Amino acid sequence: MIVLTFALLSILGSVIASKQEDFYGPGFFYVELPGQTYFGRLEDVLLGRQTGRVCRIQLDGHQRREIYIFKDESEIPDSVAVDEGLGRIYFTSGRKQANNTWEGKIQQINTDGTDLRTIITTNSLPTALKLVEHPNKKMLYWVEGTEGLEGQAGHLIKRFNVNNRTEIETVIDTKRYACSIGVNATACPPVQDMAIDTRNMDIYWTQSLRWTLIPGSLHKLSLSMKPEETATNRSGVQMLLKDERHAKRIQYVDGSIYWVTESNSETQGSWIKRLGVEDWGKKDPEVVAQVPKEQGYQIIDAFAVDARQETIWAMIGFTFSHFHKADLKGGGGFKLLRQWMAVSRSLVRVG
Ligand SMILES: *[C@@H]1O[C@H](CO)[C@@H](O)[C@H](O)[C@H]1NC(C)=O
Ligand SMILES: *[C@@H]1O[C@H](CO)[C@@H](O)[C@H](O)[C@H]1NC(C)=O
Ligand SMILES: *[C@@H]1O[C@H](CO)[C@@H](O)[C@H](O)[C@H]1NC(C)=O
Ligand SMILES: *[C@@H]1O[C@H](CO)[C@@H](O)[C@H](O)[C@H]1NC(C)=O
Repeated sequence: MIVLTFALLSILGSVIASKQEDFYGPGFFYVELPGQTYFGRLEDVLLGRQTGRVCRIQLDGHQRREIYIFKDESEIPDSVAVDEGLGRIYFTSGRKQANNTWEGKIQQINTDGTDLRTIITTNSLPTALKLVEHPNKKMLYWVEGTEGLEGQAGHLIKRFNVNNRTEIETVIDTKRYACSIGVNATACPPVQDMAIDTRNMDIYWTQSLRWTLIPGSLHKLSLSMKPEETATNRSGVQMLLKDERHAKRIQYVDGSIYWVTESNSETQGSWIKRLGVEDWGKKDPEVVAQVPKEQGYQIIDAFAVDARQETIWAMIGFTFSHFHKADLKGGGGFKLLRQWMAVSRSLVRVG
């Protein structure tokens, strides 16, 4: 009897331990877009179609876990944000309805996949979700379309305090501000992503659209709004870069801004660049990582930086995502960790 109890307890103990290890060890949360994908490696020849999902992998690309699986392929996930302290994941998704309008959601779920809740619904696809720790509150930021028809064509940056949802605030309506010299503001490309410098309380964002001639751009604005201003007439919007082709994912890490940009040729891939927040106008951005030349047609869809370990992880691909890691000091070399995953445009480091 004692032996049996002991055996049971140790089984239970190992189940709990492995659960904690799976979900709370260092790794990443990310989203997989719906569509065709290889389960496992190409060598396994297990090709199939899957719906969108929210997943977790370890730092080395092993132990992929599915946290949330969307019911059908029409529901398109976009981005994740993680509250590590509370063990909650926020994620955005949207679905195009029969009348061509979008129905979007920001949902919340425990990191072990339990307790799903919808916290916001919109009439467009919410993108570029970020959870930001301000000095005395946590805020969710995201990008939302002004016209539901285009879904992903978001021009509004919005936010709200996660502990008090009474007020959703529009930080800026980018359609009202020039995105490049000589370009009519109403024709400016959508916001791709945003980053918050919590030390100086500034917001940075990228605007661009693939397959258009309008150059991408990178902008900055102080988060403190003057009392007489609104999201459509704010002063102090800066254009930091005005010719940054397909500038998209952007992050603030330890006093620097990191962002993804593409070469002018369709076959020369993309880079991650970096510049310290105090260095704009004084120094040129440096390239910290670059897609290998032989994979030149592939682009960086998402990345995560560990400034202390000087490491960068990225989802690189075209019709699939291949998970890579690079040394920040190296200025180049991505090492492949896991391949043939469904396309992923959001990657969040935890642990
Ligand atoms: C589109 O369809 C949805 C769901 O049926 C409905 O809620 C919405 O009002 C419709 N929008 C328009 C513009 O017709
Ligand atoms: C929530 O925010 C609103 C608007 O700023 C404020 O009036 C209200 O007191 C807040 N509620 C709580 C519980 O903090
Ligand atoms: C910008 O484009 C819009 C729509 O095409 C037009 O109504 C507006 O007059 C233009 N503004 C300028 C300053 O050219
Ligand atoms: C900004 O717009 C608001 C609302 O339309 C208006 O009340 C305010 O005077 C405007 N502020 C400036 C500085 O133009």
